[in-house]
Amino acid sequence: MKIALGSDHAGLPLKKEIITHLEGKGIQIEDFGTYTESSCDYPEFALKVAEEVAAKNFDFGILVCGTGIGISIAANKVPGIRAAVCGDTFSAHACREHNDANILTLGQRVVGLGLALDIVDIFLDTKFEGGRHQKRIDKISDIEKKYSK
Ligand code: RB5
Repeated sequence: MKIALGSDHAGLPLKKEIITHLEGKGIQIEDFGTYTESSCDYPEFALKVAEEVAAKNFDFGILVCGTGIGISIAANKVPGIRAAVCGDTFSAHACREHNDANILTLGQRVVGLGLALDIVDIFLDTKFEGGRHQKRIDKISDIEKKYSK
């Protein structure tokens, strides 16, 4: 499994913890920045990771900002991306099983480290259920097509 990661300055410490956690499990990762605590703009890192995931260069993406919200909104502008902000384990499970989410976003200022790592593990371990949910994913793709130039 290959995971693309990104964050802004507000998500950097949690992203580093997630990288250590994933590497400890032998999971291949690539960090697309930011790499310093200097203030920066989360859409830049959302775009880098979302493009890599949409191109299927990675199995999943994980993005972290202060809330997980801004970076999720930005990533979801890239066609083919279904980024889900999760602050609980039920959502981490459901966004994979029902929504086939391909990017997890987390808020460093929202979730503690233990919960964040549980969310990461559940997100990566849960499979898309398909079936009735596939029809709904297809309808999301139809919306993208309707508004793509
Ligand atoms: C940065 O201060 C903060 O606005 C950003 O990390 C994120 O929370 C935005 O959604």
